[in-house]
Amino acid sequence: MVRMRRLRASSNLRSLVRETVVTKDDLVYPVFIKEGKDIKEPVASMPGIYQYSAGRFDEELDRVVNAGIKAILVFGIPSHKDEFGSEAYNDNGVTQNIIREIKKKAPDIIVIADVCLCEYTSHGHCGIICGHEILNDETLEPLAKMSVSLAKAGADIIAPSDMMDGRIAYIRKALDSNGYKNTPIMAYSAKFASGYYSPFRDAAQSAPSFGDRKTYQMDPANGREAVRECENDIAEGADIIMVKPALAYLDVIKEVSNFTNYPVAAYNVSGEYSMVKAAALNGWIDEKRVVMENLTSIKRAGAGIIITYHAIDAAHWLEED
Ligand code: PBG
Ligand code: ZN
Repeated sequence: MVRMRRLRASSNLRSLVRETVVTKDDLVYPVFIKEGKDIKEPVASMPGIYQYSAGRFDEELDRVVNAGIKAILVFGIPSHKDEFGSEAYNDNGVTQNIIREIKKKAPDIIVIADVCLCEYTSHGHCGIICGHEILNDETLEPLAKMSVSLAKAGADIIAPSDMMDGRIAYIRKALDSNGYKNTPIMAYSAKFASGYYSPFRDAAQSAPSFGDRKTYQMDPANGREAVRECENDIAEGADIIMVKPALAYLDVIKEVSNFTNYPVAAYNVSGEYSMVKAAALNGWIDEKRVVMENLTSIKRAGAGIIITYHAIDAAHWLEED
């Protein structure tokens, strides 16, 4: 008789045969920096998450460093938005300034800069618009300018999240020709048009003012197409590919990681975070247990890099055990 339970008999035996272990090294913590002074504003739909202005962010940076988190993903929220998102490539913009600050205060922290226009455009779309159309090719140049500007400010990794076609090659070329040929690109390759982004849009103040993102982000029904997105981004020069969201797309993470030997990242997005927080705050689930189970599942599916708002909590829990 096969006795599967033999290897489950004790904690040490279980850890001996454990296939997947999440570590702090796997985690990336997203942060929201708002232009202005003395801001620490809770994000209503994301308990525990705040928008900080540059000065106030020091306390959050301390939390990151003390938790032993090694990488953060930075989102800037400018006070001035326009139709073209031109603050995105202002060398003295909110994101550029905070990146310089972070690199000064905590030089070893890997600063990943999100590249997209939606936080910077008055209409909240990720690209340049004409009427109600989101233009592809016209968006590439501002994305490239933004990428170069963020690299110049000190960003360690450039992470385009806009989903325009051809942007990885375009950005790679711009980085190379401006002296940043060693700056890696983490491409949001398989980014789905998801309902799970709503809390983020409160946090980043980036909700589209008309329509939706379905003409550029992927249809949630398509797993095979996700692999094509990754193939394209790799061919265009991406160093790391990403699947987003994570939990409702574990099959896609698996599919993509089976197909490529490139590093695979997964974004455990705002809605996934907020659902867990809401249930935990109601006492309906054990937060630590559920968070660690979710993160382990994302890694088991094939993601070696996990972007998550739970990162600081998870790092402390990992330390406890
Ligand atoms: C926008 C962007 C989004 C997220 C990161 N960058 C969502 C969107 O399409 O509005 C989502 C992150 C999250 O939900 O946590 N380019
Ligand atoms: Zn965007």
